[in-house]
Amino acid sequence: MVIVLFPNNMSLEVIRLEHIRKSFHQNVVLNDVSLSFDAGEVHALVGENGAGKSTLTKILCGVYPKDGGEIYFRGEKMAFKGVADAQRLGIRMVYQELYLMKDLTVAQNIFIGRELKKGPFIDDKAMNQKTQELFDEYGIPISPSSLVKELSVAQMQMVEIIKNISQNVSVLVLDEPTTALSFKEVNDLFAMIEKIKAKGVCIVYISHKMEEILSLADRISVLRDGTLIGTLEKSESTRESIIRMMVGREIASLEKGEGVDEDSPIALKVNALETSFLHDISFSLRKGEILGLAGLMGSGRTELARALFGADKAKHMDIEVGGNKVHIKSPHDAIAHGLCYLSEDRKRFGIMADHSIYANEAISSLNDNTKFFLVDDKTLFGKAKGYQEELGIKYPSIFDPIENLSGGNQQKCILARWLLKDADIFIFDEPTKGIDILAKQEIYLKIKELARKGKAILLISSELEEILLLSDCVGVMAEGSLVAILGGEEATQETIMEYALRRK
Ligand SMILES: Nc1ncnc2c1ncn2[C@@H]1O[C@H](COP(=O)(O)OP(=O)(O)OP(=O)(O)O)[C@@H](O)[C@H]1O
Ligand SMILES: [Mg+2]
Repeated sequence: MVIVLFPNNMSLEVIRLEHIRKSFHQNVVLNDVSLSFDAGEVHALVGENGAGKSTLTKILCGVYPKDGGEIYFRGEKMAFKGVADAQRLGIRMVYQELYLMKDLTVAQNIFIGRELKKGPFIDDKAMNQKTQELFDEYGIPISPSSLVKELSVAQMQMVEIIKNISQNVSVLVLDEPTTALSFKEVNDLFAMIEKIKAKGVCIVYISHKMEEILSLADRISVLRDGTLIGTLEKSESTRESIIRMMVGREIASLEKGEGVDEDSPIALKVNALETSFLHDISFSLRKGEILGLAGLMGSGRTELARALFGADKAKHMDIEVGGNKVHIKSPHDAIAHGLCYLSEDRKRFGIMADHSIYANEAISSLNDNTKFFLVDDKTLFGKAKGYQEELGIKYPSIFDPIENLSGGNQQKCILARWLLKDADIFIFDEPTKGIDILAKQEIYLKIKELARKGKAILLISSELEEILLLSDCVGVMAEGSLVAILGGEEATQETIMEYALRRK
């Protein structure tokens, strides 16, 4: 890593943004934002979905041109014509969608575009060695010669970060880096961030997770509707002070519910489910029950959801829905039996990118809202509009392409799709991924309301806080097995982690 050292008498300020403005068509996204970033700090950017966080950092990294205002780099005014201009100054971004070449090795990815050579030939040995040195420095247990497609998402993210910091780097932007990580990987990432910070790099950290921000950030800047509300020092930041700045008022925290009635009938019973990855999974879910599923990345939570939904092939699947044995061989069968599945992978299995927000919300409920065999568009539209208000989905028009929405707002639309669907069994896989704290509360209330109405819910989440708050029982998965089902008092953060790290 090439580090620029600072003499003591020099200011720590690396970047200063002055009066930045940005609009997309008529939509003002950033309004006169002035903000500075220092060397060796973790500077968190927080704000509700659509507040302008990603847009601001994309301007900083030369991805978008600004409409007005100035960017100063170490006191000097800059005009970025593109990403390359920012990268030349060491301003780099780790994207939410990872841009690695899956068929190349880890080392080849790290040195992509600047391969080490021996004469005219690419020197894989030297690249592997250099990569290993970097991995040793940051304590990363990945082999430089493994193919990227063999890595987990968390590992890919680490490779992507190393790729960025192995070049000259002054500012590293991490936009919601932990949305796909579980507690174990989050800790590894934090250790890495501390090391990078200690080298004088400024880390701009975007996140909706309050515990992360409070433990990691030296300063916290809050954006609301494209305006900078203020910057807090670590010493003055509390969960309450940040939320108040974000939403302009206090929000009440939710209480844990009463729990499900013992006599409630069984909605879903799974016996000895086997797939190429899952072993001998058995559990049952009552009507009105929320069963949380915790586990590390790759423990099999999503595999279980996909197998139940008929999206992946099972070797043995003996399941009962509402007391009747059913055969689910495809998502079509699953939906016919009253199941629905919100995938964790919004890009691949969630959004129809080039369709409107409304089409994305309505697609699964067309058959449920008919009048004389035709889709009752008026009723459906009314319901979809209702969720716009309730979930606080921000968009200029419901007929705009969903692609134009901020990440969190896209997630809310997909959630609205399943809330519109009158299913009996809901499988939610990371339902609040990328969703801001206020909307999260709203979604928690919605999930509880579904349970109160007698729906059965399987809730997969990497956020233990979320699992503990919502679940009546918590199932813990490890290496493809369901290693524990913890009820009521037994389910604590410590016990869950202990089981998650253990093999059956
Ligand atoms: N390419 C685009 N075209 C049109 N509008 C856009 C585009 N990119 C962003 N926007 C709009 O700009 C606003 C700010 O979006 P941005 O992605 O910066 O929000 P964010 O604070 O990162 O939100 P989130 O927490 O959901 O990621 C949103 O209203 C969004 O719809
Ligand atoms: Mg964003």
